[in-house]
Amino acid sequence: MKKFYSLLAALAFLLSACASQTADGIPITIYRSPTCGCCGAWADYVADNGFKPTEENTRDMSLVKVKYHVPIELQSCHTAIIDGYVIEGHVPVREIKRLLQERPAALGIAVGGMPIGSPGMEVADVEAEPFNVILFYADGTQEIYANYP
Ligand code: CU
Ligand code: CU
Repeated sequence: MKKFYSLLAALAFLLSACASQTADGIPITIYRSPTCGCCGAWADYVADNGFKPTEENTRDMSLVKVKYHVPIELQSCHTAIIDGYVIEGHVPVREIKRLLQERPAALGIAVGGMPIGSPGMEVADVEAEPFNVILFYADGTQEIYANYP
């Protein structure tokens, strides 16, 4: 019996190790303004990291934020939807993968504003700003999910 449990533990470890490493073409829908360049840069970044983005141009991003309940203080340029979660702004793929693995009972994660140096917001010769990735819930609760750099 003991052997059985250690086998299960080994299996669970292997599975989680796999899940943390691959984005394997997981579809992500990115709502963005057609005129915003950094949205396109972030879409390229998620594609380069193995996700499969579909870009939806819209002229009224504020409607999208309302529809997906993105808190006003966490709003950024683009809003993405992946596997039922909201990804707001220039979120690093590491946290998207972690979200999909941990599956908290939250609405999604956000990087509010447009911090210089966040993915898709790199500016040559300008120092990166520190930023937080915030996990936000339907009841208005927020917590720091990760901080960068
Ligand atoms: Cu942006
Ligand atoms: Cu954007």
